[in-house]
Amino acid sequence: MKFMNTIYKTVGLVGTGAMGRGIAQLAAQAGSTVKLYDTQPQAASKAQEALFAQWDKLLEKGRLDDQQVGNYKACLVIATGLSDLADCDLIVEAIVEKLEVKKGLFAELETLIAPHAVLATNTSSLSITAIAAGLKRPEQVAGFHFFNPVPLMKVVEVIAGLKTNPEVCTGLTQYARQMGHTPVMAQDTPGFIVNHAGRGYGTEALRIVSEGISDFATIDRILRDQVGFKLGPFELMDLTALDVSHPVMESIYHQYFEEARYRPSVITAQRLAGGVVGKKVGEGFYKYVNGAAQIRPEPAAPVVENMPPVWLSPRAARRTELLQLLKDLGATIETGASPSPTALTLVAPLGFDITTVAVVERLDPARTVGIDMLIDDAATKRRVLATNPATRIDMRNAAHALFARDGKPVSVIRDSGGFVTQRVVATIVNIASDICQQRVCSPKDLEVAVTLGLGYPLGPLAMGDRYGPTNVLEVLFNMQTVYGDQRYRPSPWLRRRGAIGLSLMHTED
Ligand code: NAI
Repeated sequence: MKFMNTIYKTVGLVGTGAMGRGIAQLAAQAGSTVKLYDTQPQAASKAQEALFAQWDKLLEKGRLDDQQVGNYKACLVIATGLSDLADCDLIVEAIVEKLEVKKGLFAELETLIAPHAVLATNTSSLSITAIAAGLKRPEQVAGFHFFNPVPLMKVVEVIAGLKTNPEVCTGLTQYARQMGHTPVMAQDTPGFIVNHAGRGYGTEALRIVSEGISDFATIDRILRDQVGFKLGPFELMDLTALDVSHPVMESIYHQYFEEARYRPSVITAQRLAGGVVGKKVGEGFYKYVNGAAQIRPEPAAPVVENMPPVWLSPRAARRTELLQLLKDLGATIETGASPSPTALTLVAPLGFDITTVAVVERLDPARTVGIDMLIDDAATKRRVLATNPATRIDMRNAAHALFARDGKPVSVIRDSGGFVTQRVVATIVNIASDICQQRVCSPKDLEVAVTLGLGYPLGPLAMGDRYGPTNVLEVLFNMQTVYGDQRYRPSPWLRRRGAIGLSLMHTED
């Protein structure tokens, strides 16, 4: 049988930079004849050469055979002008991210191609509806949003504009599968799925730094060790680079008419202005020497000779587990209704700050320290403690030394409603819930898009279920009280699903 794609026999790729060539690779591997076009002289032939070299490398490694490489290479041709694309069944553009330029390109292509041909855009931040507006056949236009690097990031968002013919999306969805990628369907909304869902992680971490609660490296350590993120938010921003990620934060915020949930940070705006954008320039949140981040070692746990007895608040989250942990660590546990005058007083709030808890529970703030118990201690590789402004240094040191007794790393942060993990997890789950509420996509596609597109250890809804939807809701309700900030108001979707489970598929989905 001839090597030929059955959905789109001939595919045009306009713009053969980083994204265009990756998409061209997948299209040729799916058996389409791929025509490469770029306004920059030599860009298309450079892309062709790079892809040939890529396939030769895969042949050397034994991942492809001669026949496959021959087929793929034969599929990849150069177009010298837009008119060469007239016989294409699908044209994907991956040119500059400018609305007027993309509109102009599609208007010109529309006069050349057959009525059945599909015009797809790889835009990550522009509206599909806006790109299609003014065209003669807006129903033939859809978003086909890949991620960088295209061959490795196995997910693609298929986006319907206001007037897109559903069959166009069906075709792109099937084609994505033939390319070896997983398609997810998204409504034409700012950031689509992945860039929208990604707003929780970095933005909340930046907010924690901007409040002086902790530093970049500690926050990265906490989120890696407690939740299992592969990269901390600041490591991730250094890798993506702020000249890419800060404009995305601003764009989504403004496109949602200054919705508080997506508010960007002055920290990244200033660092971008200063050119301290990330690993590629040798300095971002971390300094890089020969590509390696320079990270100061964590302070060692203090040595405490006379460990005070510990009194645990009856309102602590996961209290039974925490009591067992204290026993396992060899603490002397007080059982009285209130702490003795020498006791280290331990609280474990969800969403509330340590100061508020000490005041409400009538505890001595000087001896009160908090611990984050959103996640099972057994399921984390780090413990996080928080002081309040009045906590005595000997009490902070005692708590630090006690919780480090079994060798598990301990971070101590300043007082904050919701510690680090609670804040970031609750924000991720809340934004994801709002994506479901807005029907940007199905809950199932959301989970797939986030795990494949952002590499999170769990989909955000599964994350909410694992740590307890009611716990997440409690964190948000209390943080809304502590901060008086609309950004923490729980999505109605989360409030309704809180009691029944977030990843539960339901007739309403
Ligand atoms: P790039 O700068 O590497 O490549 C763009 C290419 O388009 C260049 O070769 C340029 O000469 C060519 N070009 C510009 N205007 C043109 C025109 N009017 N006609 C024909 N060719 C033209 O850019 P990159 O990173 O490949 O991004 C391209 C598109 O993909 C943008 O819309 C971007 O938002 C989107 N995108 C980028 C991602 C990324 O991580 N780089 C991720 C997802 C989407």
